[in-house]
Amino acid sequence: MGIGGGLSKLNVAVMGATGMVGQQYMRLLEKHPWFEISILMGKRSAGKKFGEAVEWIGSYDPPTRVKEIVVSEIDPERQAADLFFSCLPSEVAREVEGKFALKFPVVSDTSAYRMETDVPIIIPELNAEHAKIIDRQRRERGWKGFIVTGPNCTTTGLAVALKPLDDAYNVRKVFVTTMQAVSGAGYPGVPSLLIIDNVIPYIKDEEEKVARETKKILGKFQDEKILENDMMVAASCNRVPVIDGHLECVYVETEKKVDVEEAKNILREFRGLPQELKLPSAPEKPIIVREESDRPQPRRDRDSGSVPGMSVVVGRVRRGLDENSLQFTVLSHNTIRGAAGNAILTAELLYKLGYIE
Ligand SMILES: NC(=O)c1ccc[n+]([C@@H]2O[C@H](COP(=O)([O-])OP(=O)(O)OC[C@H]3O[C@@H](n4cnc5c(N)ncnc54)[C@H](OP(=O)(O)O)[C@@H]3O)[C@@H](O)[C@H]2O)c1
Repeated sequence: MGIGGGLSKLNVAVMGATGMVGQQYMRLLEKHPWFEISILMGKRSAGKKFGEAVEWIGSYDPPTRVKEIVVSEIDPERQAADLFFSCLPSEVAREVEGKFALKFPVVSDTSAYRMETDVPIIIPELNAEHAKIIDRQRRERGWKGFIVTGPNCTTTGLAVALKPLDDAYNVRKVFVTTMQAVSGAGYPGVPSLLIIDNVIPYIKDEEEKVARETKKILGKFQDEKILENDMMVAASCNRVPVIDGHLECVYVETEKKVDVEEAKNILREFRGLPQELKLPSAPEKPIIVREESDRPQPRRDRDSGSVPGMSVVVGRVRRGLDENSLQFTVLSHNTIRGAAGNAILTAELLYKLGYIE
């Protein structure tokens, strides 16, 4: 296998292929220059062709090739691929991902291993250096493969916006109130009669995940350890009747004084290793800053940028109560930047860094 010099693409497997996140993998990998889907896995849909098993929610058709693939049950003893993407329910993922990691690279959207000390939560523009912990993971667990995770979909947009601000102003406290799309709850998710004409002011475990994961993602990598960032994060999470795109109102307190126009430029100009390496799924601008007083909006802005769904959109950037504070609104596409797209970009990065062969 290999993708250099015109050789064949890497074979990838998707575990949880028919779900909300799984469906995004089908679309994002359809014409991927390096990766090709070879195995689709599920439980309820096992034995059926993907096209017959899936309750497709996109406003476009599933890719023709994928529709014909017969979904298989998960069988870590017998299945093999160059790379496994996992978008399973977390409780299922815990056992299965560990078994595949004995031999193969696993890039996971699930929370099963996120907070393990030797497992990174990667947003490639923010903390590519955390990937080095794979060496320790392999050594200590005796795995030939590895597990790398992506964050919870709500953490993603927040962490992307915080990174350049923290680098510039040293963020001390973060208060975030979220308005989260229904696709974040998977399929069939929240019953329509509970969410239409309504807002649900609670999402189980979400507030704790946002706080913990943000500190880990923005932490330093040192001596084979990820040292948590010491900023404090308080989140209030709400489910709203939007299909895709999590909107978050953020208030930050900083150590250094903040200039609003300078902060906007810092956000606009932020770039990471994926942009430098020109990875196929890297958006030209990880953060798009809007100046209109009523943007970002989920329906209008979630697919913004050069790679739709991969840019985080920030707007309403303004001063907080004093010079050491800033307020803004951030939007990110929860199943793309918050899940499948981020995982594919991570896999591209890991391939370039030599962790996937
Ligand atoms: N939705 C988001 O915005 C989002 C964002 C970030 C992370 N995540 C995480 O990503 C994962 C998937 O989320 P989702 O929203 O896509 O969920 P979902 O719509 O409920 O999909 C779950 C998938 O897992 C499969 N599955 C369930 N039980 C299984 C089992 N025992 N063995 C094999 N396959 C099984 C289902 O296939 P069958 O029906 O064929 O069994 C389905 O394809 C979750 O861990 C979630 O927390 C989700």
